[in-house]
Amino acid sequence: MKTNALGPFQVSTIGLGCMNLSHAYGQPPSAAQAERLLLRALDLGVTFFDTAALYGFGANETLVGQVLGPHRQKFTLASKCGMQGVAFDGGIKRVIDGRPATLRATCEDSLRRLKTEVIDLYYLHRWDKSVPIAESVGALGDLVRAGKIRSIGLSEVSAQTLRLAHAEHPITALQTEYSLWTRNPEIAVLEACRELGVGFVAFSPVARGFLSDQALDVNAFDAKDIRRAMPRFASLAYGANLPLLNEVKAVAQEVNASVAQVGLAWLLAKGVQRGQPVIPIPGTTNIQHLEENLAAADCVLNTEQLARLETALAPERIVGARYNALNQSEVDTEEYTERQRP
Ligand SMILES: NC(=O)c1ccc[n+]([C@@H]2O[C@H](COP(=O)([O-])OP(=O)(O)OC[C@H]3O[C@@H](n4cnc5c(N)ncnc54)[C@H](OP(=O)(O)O)[C@@H]3O)[C@@H](O)[C@H]2O)c1
Repeated sequence: MKTNALGPFQVSTIGLGCMNLSHAYGQPPSAAQAERLLLRALDLGVTFFDTAALYGFGANETLVGQVLGPHRQKFTLASKCGMQGVAFDGGIKRVIDGRPATLRATCEDSLRRLKTEVIDLYYLHRWDKSVPIAESVGALGDLVRAGKIRSIGLSEVSAQTLRLAHAEHPITALQTEYSLWTRNPEIAVLEACRELGVGFVAFSPVARGFLSDQALDVNAFDAKDIRRAMPRFASLAYGANLPLLNEVKAVAQEVNASVAQVGLAWLLAKGVQRGQPVIPIPGTTNIQHLEENLAAADCVLNTEQLARLETALAPERIVGARYNALNQSEVDTEEYTERQRP
């Protein structure tokens, strides 16, 4: 597996997002299946694993710690704070909280669950807009100085917030949603990252399963599947978006690859074009998909194919917003205006 620089780290060109091993797209896999997948990723040369205190309300960090803890020296470990589960009314609810004391406490929990003495890259998962960004990032800077984390990342923030944060403490990476289907980072943050020397990590790079050879049955999503709340996965919007994949399928055929591989290869090519790596972290519960996704590192698209893909999935052609109003209010990103659902 080839590698790319991410701040002080050298990471596999494609990392692994671990979220859906515990949370997000329906029923998570069994512990045994999740373990097999993580170990297979390590075997195949993945040296960049992404988790968060939020995922499975701690269960995902625990899983990563148990399975990958014994191999800790072999990879760069990224996790996130500032959004987690909090006991509420006999259950647990998701809370965004960027106060310094909360971030410090979450970091201790993350370290314990991850069975590590230091987290390489610790992101602020969401900017808590009730706390100045400099205050939250300042607290993460204290954690760097205390040796609990090696570097700081941000997630789903605007170029302006990134600049403010970077002035408080150097930011190593910005993680935000970026795929052929979601091009918002092209508005401003990719440029800001390059200018500031902040690494760029693309989450949901296969568009949460949209960039696939097989159409999803969006009406059969599990009750816990977070895509049920995403406007562009609503039945009519999804149906209107599906034909946009025809050109991706045509390119996939030309290069003897799958749709997901073309989506990942396009992201890698954007990094090369822009002169700063884009590091995708696809997530999967399926070992075949894992192998397919990692093989995308060897999939080469020519300039004409890249242009055709970008035209086919131009932002103005996508129907439906990526988030509902509540989740949109929780992020701080520049967004293209989405076409309304039919
Ligand atoms: N910072 C944030 O706010 C944030 C938000 C979301 C995600 N993330 C991070 O980014 C990682 C990846 O995000 P994600 O899981 O949303 O995105 P993704 O990789 O774009 O999508 C995952 C979905 O696509 C399917 N899939 C994956 N590979 C496939 C393939 N080759 N062919 C067909 N379907 C495929 C998976 O199903 P199968 O399981 O069946 O393969 C799963 O349903 C997460 O694990 C997490 O670490 C961060």
